[in-house]
Amino acid sequence: MSRLRVGIFAGGRSAEHEVSVSSADSVLRAIDRERYEPFLVYIDRQGRWHLPDGPAPLLGDRPLAELLGAASPVEQTARLRAHEDLPVPVGIGHPDQAPRAVVRSLAEAIDVAFLVLHGPFGEDGTLQGFLELAGVPYTGAGVLASSVAMDKVVFKDLMRGHGLPVLDSTWFRRSTWLDSPAMVLGEIGERIGERSVVKPARLGSSVGMTLVHGPGELPDALDEAFRYDTKVIVEVYAAGARELECGVLGNDHPIAFEPGEVVSHHEWYDYEAKYVPGLADVIPRAAVDSALAARLRELALAAYRAVDCAGMARVDFLVPPDGVYLSEMNTLPGFTATSMFPKQAELAGLALPDLIGRLIDLGMEAASDGRTPGGRAGEPA
Ligand SMILES: Nc1ncnc2c1ncn2[C@@H]1O[C@H](COP(=O)(O)OP(=O)(O)O)[C@@H](O)[C@H]1O
Ligand SMILES: [Mg+2]
Repeated sequence: MSRLRVGIFAGGRSAEHEVSVSSADSVLRAIDRERYEPFLVYIDRQGRWHLPDGPAPLLGDRPLAELLGAASPVEQTARLRAHEDLPVPVGIGHPDQAPRAVVRSLAEAIDVAFLVLHGPFGEDGTLQGFLELAGVPYTGAGVLASSVAMDKVVFKDLMRGHGLPVLDSTWFRRSTWLDSPAMVLGEIGERIGERSVVKPARLGSSVGMTLVHGPGELPDALDEAFRYDTKVIVEVYAAGARELECGVLGNDHPIAFEPGEVVSHHEWYDYEAKYVPGLADVIPRAAVDSALAARLRELALAAYRAVDCAGMARVDFLVPPDGVYLSEMNTLPGFTATSMFPKQAELAGLALPDLIGRLIDLGMEAASDGRTPGGRAGEPA
């Protein structure tokens, strides 16, 4: 039987470019080359697509990042600090690469897309929609689930609609902040209180976020978040919260892994704590009692179903002493050697090569079921 041709999509013009490349590195090393023939579809920082002109190399001792000339997370952090490299992605395509040509060569080159891109234009449903139109099956969540999970405002509203616990929050458009700042500050003071967390609604990696300690810090926090997004969410600050996370895997019959925990050595889990080694501990199996573990897994599955997710997701919680709150859902969690999701899968008996195979099977299954009503991947209209 011929091997399935798997396009591993990595890079992207987001703050998570390096993480994505590092995730792709893990996938390229672990993928079962007897069953699959991997190809690398690299999207560079300028948003240009580099389509495969041959099977992906065996990496040996060389990291993929070296091959691609990517900057280190530390360099990336420095650049972000200097605000030289805003993580605002450009669209797919390039003047020399009309979308139609990209579609044609992709559909000819690969049988399935394995996505390891994070953030806007990778995790938010846009790429998923593109692949759907191109008739290429892909791993992970579909268009709607991807975009719902990416938008913290819509995600929280959906959770509330299902009676699932989330922290109180409010949100504003940039134009409202510019037109009526006093009203915005007043509403936050009244509904959220003095301590809050201000975030761009549709980003990740803690970029553009501020933990606000008092009203004096609020205007700058809003200005900062609005630099990255036209929608900003302001949440109640959960004091003393543990950060617990459950991976979920499956389409129609998803399973939730045992909870893990992230312990940040910064005041909160900010960009540096996420990507500079040693600033946070990622513990794939948290020390929690069995009642809390069961509650978290149940909530993770409920959230996954509410979003109508497929493939996989990592569901994150904030757990202060007095409650359990769903915080967010990541439909394309990190896949690096130290990432939470693959570690949890491994503890559940699914080593990385098997997990990759499982995600490909789930992606093919979702495509043949037809992710979009009336549409089936592999049969472009
Ligand atoms: N309401 C909150 N209370 C306390 N800490 C929070 C709150 N919201 C976010 N944080 C902190 O900020 C981090 C990033 O927030 P999160 O909503 O997960 O955004 P991202 O999508 O960037 O990961 C969390 O991991 C946590 O450390
Ligand atoms: Mg998070």
